[in-house]
Amino acid sequence: MPTTISFARGAPHPDALSGDLIAECTRLALEADATRILSYGTGNGYPPLREVLASWHGAEPGQVLITNGSLQGFVFLLESHLRPGDVVAVESPTYDRALLQLKLHGMDVLPIPLDGDGMDVEALAASCAAGRTPRLLYTIPNFQNPSGATLSAERRARLVEVCEEYDILIVEDDPYGRLRFEGEDLPGIWRIAPPGRVIFTSSFSKTVAPGLRVGYLVSPPEIAGDLAAAASRTYISPALLSEAAIHQLIVTDRLEPNIAHVTELMRERRDAMSAGMRHMPEGTAYVPPQGGFFCWLTLPEGLSADELFEPAAAAGIAYVKGSDCVLGGGERTLRLAYSGVSPAEIEEGMERLGAVFSAAAVTS
Ligand SMILES: Cc1ncc(COP(=O)(O)O)c(C=O)c1O
Repeated sequence: MPTTISFARGAPHPDALSGDLIAECTRLALEADATRILSYGTGNGYPPLREVLASWHGAEPGQVLITNGSLQGFVFLLESHLRPGDVVAVESPTYDRALLQLKLHGMDVLPIPLDGDGMDVEALAASCAAGRTPRLLYTIPNFQNPSGATLSAERRARLVEVCEEYDILIVEDDPYGRLRFEGEDLPGIWRIAPPGRVIFTSSFSKTVAPGLRVGYLVSPPEIAGDLAAAASRTYISPALLSEAAIHQLIVTDRLEPNIAHVTELMRERRDAMSAGMRHMPEGTAYVPPQGGFFCWLTLPEGLSADELFEPAAAAGIAYVKGSDCVLGGGERTLRLAYSGVSPAEIEEGMERLGAVFSAAAVTS
């Protein structure tokens, strides 16, 4: 059996992880503040980093909760602000782990279709007009996981309008937005919405290192206190050494060059994947993403990414089934992450995967 090439993991390639950089930032952090870092802290995270993140978002430090990865922050939100049976809207497809958490917490998930311009906001408006209005909307506006799609500026403005009209709290999850290969940055929903409408969440997992487990939420003050209480109940305080290392990375001006480096590595991989699409059977739909880690494929009629999962694994290729990212259906779709593999592995992997899919296309 050939060595597996995994297109399944949304993690940065080892070349994007700099041990020396993190060692240096950790050393600086301990020199500056060892006693505080090595003690229990407050549930909401390392105060100097909370101050920096608040200034990025035009918020107060009290609105910032730093968590052991941003998914943990999302779970605290579900625990402290929602009840089983609450309607939560998500893009369809959406991040599989967020979807799993919504199901585990008993939410009534409302899928909103998505295309190359992100969520179909008019479909959300239609659902609300028909009486099915979510309490919360979870969106990944930039280089979405799993589709790679970015919500257009017009749709962002319309989304805010609809959520204002129907009083829907928006969770804007943006771990990929800084990893843009081309085109202009679009205004964040947090920026264009009135205060109190949006919880912004992001992470240093994709831009620095997932093993540090540093993610954060910026929320309206009335929610922030409950989130901090949930954090304190769960783990007393998060891992302060990682947070302090990230703080040093930022204040010593090393974050931006690192983001530029990671973006370049990812752009090369996106290009390799786009080139590898020539191995796919005719009729496979693919829109090259303008940033982030993922691309999304729709196979031609008659092919099932679910059924081809095992044959692909036998050929040494792993991917995420699109059906894991939606409530029902999605069998013809799959997510390919180019983030964790080298351009050479992408070329080889796409050739192998194309052979599996093409063989099935001939017999279908
Ligand atoms: C959209 C999205 N949100 C959140 C996360 C989780 O990030 P973290 O490592 O900060 O928990 C991921 C990771 O894949 C993601 O794709």
